[in-house]
Amino acid sequence: MAKGYTAKDAKKADAGNSEAKRGALKNGTEHTHTDCVSHLKVDDPDLQIKVREDAMRKLESDLSKREVGLIEREIKILSLQQEIDRLRPLSGLYRVVKAMTTERKLESMLEVITSETTKMLKCDRCSVFVVDHSSKELWTQMAVGLDGTRTIRVALAGNSIVSLCARTGRVINIPDAYEDPRFDPDIDKSTGYRTKNILCVPMHNRNGSVIGVFEVMNKDQNTFTDEDEEWLQALAAVAGGLIEQAQQYSEIEHFVDKTLETLAQTIDKRDPLTAGHSIRVTKYSLLIGENMSISEDERDVLRYSAMMHDYGKIGVPEAILWKNGRLTPEEYACVQTHAKITYDLLSNLPFTNRLAQVPFVASCHHEKLDGTGYYRGLKGHEIPFLARVITVSDVFDALTSVRHYRNRMSITKVYEIMESGRENHFDPEVVDAFYSLPCDRVLKVMESERGQQVPAELENFQNISWLRLVELCQGGRPKAHEEGLKDLFYRIYNANLPPDYQELD
Ligand SMILES: [Fe+2]
Repeated sequence: MAKGYTAKDAKKADAGNSEAKRGALKNGTEHTHTDCVSHLKVDDPDLQIKVREDAMRKLESDLSKREVGLIEREIKILSLQQEIDRLRPLSGLYRVVKAMTTERKLESMLEVITSETTKMLKCDRCSVFVVDHSSKELWTQMAVGLDGTRTIRVALAGNSIVSLCARTGRVINIPDAYEDPRFDPDIDKSTGYRTKNILCVPMHNRNGSVIGVFEVMNKDQNTFTDEDEEWLQALAAVAGGLIEQAQQYSEIEHFVDKTLETLAQTIDKRDPLTAGHSIRVTKYSLLIGENMSISEDERDVLRYSAMMHDYGKIGVPEAILWKNGRLTPEEYACVQTHAKITYDLLSNLPFTNRLAQVPFVASCHHEKLDGTGYYRGLKGHEIPFLARVITVSDVFDALTSVRHYRNRMSITKVYEIMESGRENHFDPEVVDAFYSLPCDRVLKVMESERGQQVPAELENFQNISWLRLVELCQGGRPKAHEEGLKDLFYRIYNANLPPDYQELD
């Protein structure tokens, strides 16, 4: 709009234009709106004024059209922004609900909830604190926006706003932290963070007890509104339910884990020489599984199956299991029954759908790729993949442990056996995944044998693979960072062996 643009201004503009016109005439580029004026007779002032007025009106109209256009564009952008702002919480809520239906693990769900909350409420930080009754603390189960450490612990009885919220069970909305006596500025001093405003909402379980606090901080250019409180309360109710559910789930999982571990140890502990076998096989299997990027569900099946793989040995007489010397064919057949007994016993356990494969996987650990294993004589891909992982771990642990019928085998011999079993006994991909494991992680599991302390020097092996260690032991030329590793390995591997120890084939 040509606001305040008058005829007086027009005259001024015209004077300026005349000056410009003179310059333009010289250059031959004259093209202003007063073109027509220059062709008028000088002695016809009325007409001249009329034309000038027409030109002014045209100019005003052009200008106002442009300005109206600009304002309209501004309005469009503004309403679009308002629309986006209005929809932001809804799209955030959609992603939260989606995460709840697709994510099984609490960590992943909370990650989505907290990151969406920071976007929805346009704030800097979002943390979910959970009450830990044993330590009487609140700790950040999930936090977005923290520099460095993602875990903060505060005393339940402490001065922090989070503690106050948890104790009172009330929403606390502080528009200006440094003006509020409840805020302790020492917290900022210790973290280097400048708190401006805070909104804390308690999370309750189904019994109404506070199980944690949802905290958001530093709303962008503003303070937290009543609407923000409502949003956070809704999300806190969702997160509270999820946390309670996850806590119950993890208690059950822990109980099942410990129960199966204890059952597995009842077999291992019958004989001091096999003590810890099931745990080590589980650890090797999980390392291989991780290296082969198995899913979370597969990981759980692998863990339980590896833990319980030899449970059927409970049905094999100790006189045969502990026999010092070669087994007769009948005795060997008796030992072989343990795989079927494992299956029969585990099949009686009410595994959930997700773990339904455990009895089958556990009972397949003596199957061989070429079909000559037991007890079903399965071939190739008839053997479940996770059982093929356990097979490699089981044989490796047996060869690198002391047994009644032989001592700990030399590592080069172990390698030869694994290589000779490639394609016919072992899945070559699993063998390769094992070979490429970081050597220190393999040695940590290996050296936990017989409950001995894991030597601190194992960290020297973190930059080489297991296969590289074998190559060094076979006489491979060490690179600069591998100097002395072979001798160090032999010292660790052969430590605490009986004085009359001799390598046996
Ligand atoms: Fe076995």
